[in-house]
Amino acid sequence: MTHFLDIHKTTPADLRSILDQANSMKSARAGRPKGTPDDEAPLAGHMVALIFEKPSTRTRVSFDMGVRQMGGQTMVLSGKEMQLGHGETIADTARVLSRYVDMIMIRTFDETILLELAEYADIPVINGLTDRSHPCQIMADVMTYEEHRGPIKGKKVVWSGDGNNVCASFLHAAGQFGFDLTFTGPLQLDPEDEFIGLARKGGVRVEIERDAAKAVNGADLVVTDTWISMHDEQSASQRRHNMLRPYQVNEALMAHAKPDALFMHCLPAHRDEEASSEVMDGPHSVIFDEAENRLHAQKAIMRHCLGV
Ligand code: CP
Ligand code: NVA
Repeated sequence: MTHFLDIHKTTPADLRSILDQANSMKSARAGRPKGTPDDEAPLAGHMVALIFEKPSTRTRVSFDMGVRQMGGQTMVLSGKEMQLGHGETIADTARVLSRYVDMIMIRTFDETILLELAEYADIPVINGLTDRSHPCQIMADVMTYEEHRGPIKGKKVVWSGDGNNVCASFLHAAGQFGFDLTFTGPLQLDPEDEFIGLARKGGVRVEIERDAAKAVNGADLVVTDTWISMHDEQSASQRRHNMLRPYQVNEALMAHAKPDALFMHCLPAHRDEEASSEVMDGPHSVIFDEAENRLHAQKAIMRHCLGV
């Protein structure tokens, strides 16, 4: 069974072929109305369940459109409205859905929910974000970087802010794609040691630098994300804002990066909190290309999982 659970759980060769396919599928339909089907219909006859236990705009719309463009069908389900949200076990849910549909994409809270679903399903399961990682996003981000600047291998990526789920997938990708990653943020919000170790085992440099300006020095790519994720205690918001304010990505901070550095944010953003509007709308920013590339990268991920 080929699941897509995390970037470090897929081989570098498979990750590269997913991105190659994403690029060729993107160029093959350039300029067409979005609702028109691709020339090929690799998902014809396939039904994909898209389960959301948290809100979503990009993941929901890009997966749904991607399946439709490839000739398949989708069923968008809210966790709360399923028996899953009322005590049915994950294992039973996995076994039941495997009798009805051909693939599951799930956005959920605890990673164990995703892992248990994958363990008991007879069909591929794709991680559409958990509290701990967001692999589809970073596949789109690597695709976006390379589209603008060529190979990401050997480049310096700086993550500024909260060492959250999106940051975790950047660490997974660092080891697999061969780029260095510097984390800058408060000690309390460091990424998990396990993920730092994984990246280092992949032979790349991972550094932690509390001074944001020093961290960004010489960066090829600067990335940030919301200061409060969907799984975070919302009541801790003031404390987190105070801790994270020195790590806002603004023009003064970007001035320390290489002149042709890119700026990324997975969105949704809280403008003028984690990143200034000037940076988000400025010449370094590729945030809407990232959002678009979710569609293309995920189409290739789905083909990889289904082997079609
Ligand atoms: N970046 C991302 O996953 O966005 P959504 O929460 O809108 O899906
Ligand atoms: N870190 C954010 C990402 C949203 C796409 C969250 O988990 O809420």
